[in-house]
Order: sequence, then C-alpha cells, then structure tokens
Amino acid sequence: MIDNYFMSIALKLAEKTLGNVAPNPAVGCVIVKDGMVAGEGYTGIGGRPHAEVAALQSIKGSIHGATMYVTLEPCCHYGVTGPCTVEIIRSGIKRVVIAAVDPDKRVSGSGIKALEEAGIAVKQGIMQEEAEKLNTGFFTAKKLHRPFIACKIATTLDGKIATFTGDSKWITSESTRNWVHELRAKYDAIMIGSNTLINDDPVLTCRLPRLENKFPIRLIVDSQERLKEKHNIARTADKVTTWVITNKEVEKKIKSINYLIVNSNDKPILACKSGMTSNQEEYSADKICLKDMALKLVSEIGITRLLVEGGGVLITELLKYDLIDRLIICRSGKILGNDSTPFIGNLGIQSINNCYQFKKVEVVDFDEDIVEVWNKL
Ligand SMILES: NC(=O)c1ccc[n+]([C@@H]2O[C@H](COP(=O)([O-])OP(=O)(O)OC[C@H]3O[C@@H](n4cnc5c(N)ncnc54)[C@H](OP(=O)(O)O)[C@@H]3O)[C@@H](O)[C@H]2O)c1
Repeated sequence: MIDNYFMSIALKLAEKTLGNVAPNPAVGCVIVKDGMVAGEGYTGIGGRPHAEVAALQSIKGSIHGATMYVTLEPCCHYGVTGPCTVEIIRSGIKRVVIAAVDPDKRVSGSGIKALEEAGIAVKQGIMQEEAEKLNTGFFTAKKLHRPFIACKIATTLDGKIATFTGDSKWITSESTRNWVHELRAKYDAIMIGSNTLINDDPVLTCRLPRLENKFPIRLIVDSQERLKEKHNIARTADKVTTWVITNKEVEKKIKSINYLIVNSNDKPILACKSGMTSNQEEYSADKICLKDMALKLVSEIGITRLLVEGGGVLITELLKYDLIDRLIICRSGKILGNDSTPFIGNLGIQSINNCYQFKKVEVVDFDEDIVEVWNKL
C-alpha cells in the first residue's frame, strides 16, 4: 500500500512535462527517507535532466538508506547523459521501487540488474499499468516505431464535423474547447489535413493562460503546396515549429517552415477488412503514404504522441491504415444533416462483422457537450 502511495506521487510528477520531453519518456521520481518525501524530480523539458538525477539533486541532507520510487526503470547506458544507475548507486539509496521496465533495448532489464548487482533491493511492477498508460507514446514508438496517434473530433449529434459550405465554427462549447487546449498540451504534435488548413486557417496552439509557453509541433499534410505565407500557421512559424508533410520536392518553400518528404517506393498494404468492396480503396501513388509518414515522424522528428485534429478525409485514411490508437469525440447537441461533412468517409464495409472496433475508456461531461474517449480494441 505504502509503495503504491509514493508511486502515485511519482506518476503525478511524471505528468508535469508530458508532451514536452519527446522522444524521451516522461518520468517521475520520489525519494523517501524515514517515511517522508525527502526529494522529488521529473524529466526536464526536452527530455533532460532525467527524473532520478533531478530528484537526487533536490535533496539537501544525507539520503543514505532511503528508498527511490521511479515510474520507469533507470537507464544504465551512456547517451546524451550518463547512466542514472551510477548516480543512484553512488547516492547510498538502498531500495528502488520501479513501475515499468524500460522497453528501450539498451536498458530493458539491465538497469534493474545493475542496481541489484550493487546490492540495492529492487521491486518492479508497482502501478506498472498506470505508468505504461502515461507513457503510451514512448512505449508505442519503441514497439511500433511510430507515434501513439489520437484523433480529436468535434462532432454534432449526427456525427458531422462541418456544414456543406465548410463552416465548423463552433460545433462545441467554449468549455469543451478549453479542455481541448489542455489536451493539446499533453501531445508532442498536432496534425491537420490541407482542407482544414484552407477552410479554417487555424493557429493550432494552446490558448489558455497557464499554457501559453506550450507549443506542440504543428504538422500539415499537404501534397499540393496549399500552405501559403498568408495563412496563420505560416505567419506564426517563426514561433512554433511547423512541418509540412508532402511527397515531392517543394518549389516555393516558406520561411521557417520545415518540409518532410515522404516518398514511398513500396505500395503500402491497407488495413483492409475482408468484406470491404474490392473497388473501395486502391492505393494511389500520388498520395502521401501515411504508414511511412508515421515512421518518419519518430525517426526524423522524434514525435511519440500525435494528436490529429481532422478533417474527415485525413482521419478516414488513418483509420484504413490502422493508424488510429484513440478517438476523442467531442459531441455537441447540434444536428447538421446528411448534406454536411461526416467525420469518417466511405469505408466500403459490407458486414457488421468487418467493422472497425473501439472500446470506450472515458466519458467527460460538460454542460452542453460530452467527450468520449475510445481506444482501439
Ligand atoms: N469539427 C471538427 O472537429 C473538424 C476538425 C477539422 C476539420 N473540420 C472541418 O472539416 C473540413 C475539412 O476536412 P476534410 O475532411 O475535407 O479534409 P482534411 O482531412 O482536412 O484534408 C484532406 C486533405 O489532406 C491532404 N492529404 C495529403 N495526403 C493525404 C493522405 N494520404 N490522406 C489524406 N489526406 C491527405 C489532401 O490534400 P492535398 O491533395 O492537397 O495534399 C486531402 O484532400 C473543413 O470544413 C473543416 O472546417 C472539422
């Protein structure tokens, strides 16, 4: 029980810089001496310092014989920083409680081994599920080499995201939109399709007083050079890191905008359901391959947590390529009718048995709207 208590404090600490540490994990650490918290730390912005080092540095007196609670196995390799295990062993800590084992091949069990070999008692698995959930981006990137991908959609009661003229401001209430700004702060990057860029001309920043220094990277999927200097995103690109994802050389590059070229030689395999009509989705060589794009977001930009904010065309393509881990549906009481834009386009599914399936994990109630969180089954 006592281990769970201190680990839950470490998990709360880890959350502080979530969305600001990629490609590193967000880790929390508490040092306990004589039953009291003697020091605490969490991963610094940009991924350094590591939480264990920050916690050790926060301590004034002796910590000989203390217990360390850390949400992820301490590292034992030389990277940009030295191994945390060396610092822990040197500090005189006698017991280390770890939530999750580090999936990074350079650590994965070796950190625990190094501590044990130095005579430190190690207990692993305390609140492991919570710790893995918190760092789902880091774990997904290590396992699948792509980011954890969540799609946030503001929909009407009938599942529409815009009128037939393209108007979508605003489908949900201000309090729900403020909640979305907080959500953005927990992601490394926000992505939109080029139609959303043209129709909405968004800024895609966190516009809440406490979050004004928090700028997730902005990504625009745009193969036709539709982003122009006049757009809000281009006008603010000197302040907020922005990437255009395209599949060919860009003729007129815009100042301060980065370009990620995804040139796929291989025809990707669709996450096609058997039971889809055969003519439904032939891969077009002109399209950006979203699977390759997802891999490059990790390998070239270091993104582990991606929030896609539409529109429907992009979300439908991501779904077809099995690239959606979570759907966050912000649903209002409005109805727009069948001539408006749906959040998912045609999928060609003939039988219910072949549908895509998500599992409800959370419902948040707002005065005028509800937010439903669904994870991929
Ligand atoms: N309510 C909401 O939550 C919400 C959120 C966002 C948008 N919206 C609304 O939705 C509407 C726009 O959405 P939309 O569905 O028409 O378009 P969209 O998803 O924003 O953009 C689609 C465009 O992205 C580009 N793209 C490039 N490669 C792609 C690929 N592999 N897969 C998919 N797209 C690719 C394509 O344009 P290129 O050929 O130019 O590359 C494609 O036409 C707007 O009216 C906007 O207001 C609503």
